[in-house]
Amino acid sequence: MNSDYIYSRRSIRKFSDKPVPKEIIEQILDAGRVAPSAKNRQPWKYIVFGGKQKDDLLNCMEKGVAREELEPMLPNSSRGITDCKNTLRIMREAPIIIIVLNTNGNSPFIEINCDDRITEICDTLSIGASIENILLKSTEIGIGTLWIANTCFAYPELTAFLDTGHQLVGAIALGYSGETPSARPRKTASDIIEYRM
Ligand SMILES: Cc1cc2nc3c(=O)[nH]c(=O)nc-3n(C[C@H](O)[C@H](O)[C@H](O)COP(=O)(O)O)c2cc1C
Repeated sequence: MNSDYIYSRRSIRKFSDKPVPKEIIEQILDAGRVAPSAKNRQPWKYIVFGGKQKDDLLNCMEKGVAREELEPMLPNSSRGITDCKNTLRIMREAPIIIIVLNTNGNSPFIEINCDDRITEICDTLSIGASIENILLKSTEIGIGTLWIANTCFAYPELTAFLDTGHQLVGAIALGYSGETPSARPRKTASDIIEYRM
């Protein structure tokens, strides 16, 4: 893969309704499959939604977001609800939604001890590596993606709907891009790197 894809990848928030062939989705997810992971646990699982099943998933998310607005379970969720509703609108436009699960993770509403917290951090990092592989492979083959964490606002509803027992980490919206956004701002190298050598 050309390293230019690292630089040309963008979050895509407008999708064309052109269907994405299953072979392309398989190729993209295979890039996620081969990612590095802590102790090679490979704690990721992906569920691919399209068509009516995607509509059912997103209707469930919409109900959860409405519940979170009225009866919040996340202490600061009111700050993020508007952004979440915008993400939901984008998810409805994308032809494919990939749900991302941590097969070792527990609900964020359950207290965990320090050992389990460290395991969960490592597993979450591993899943992040897998997702980034998916985004870069998608960019390489001309498919737009959006990495989504706003599923957290409807966590209980979505996990009940999915019925896997796994932790819901987020989602990836995927489809042919309907926009060509410019690069978003980044910190400079001197902002983020300190050399002690
Ligand atoms: C962990 C994570 C969660 C994200 N969640 C959302 C989301 O729920 N909705 C959204 O529109 N964008 C989401 N994004 C996309 C970021 O907003 C985006 O990556 C950032 O603004 C930089 O833009 P770029 O990806 O085009 O470089 C998320 C990105 C990451 C890495």
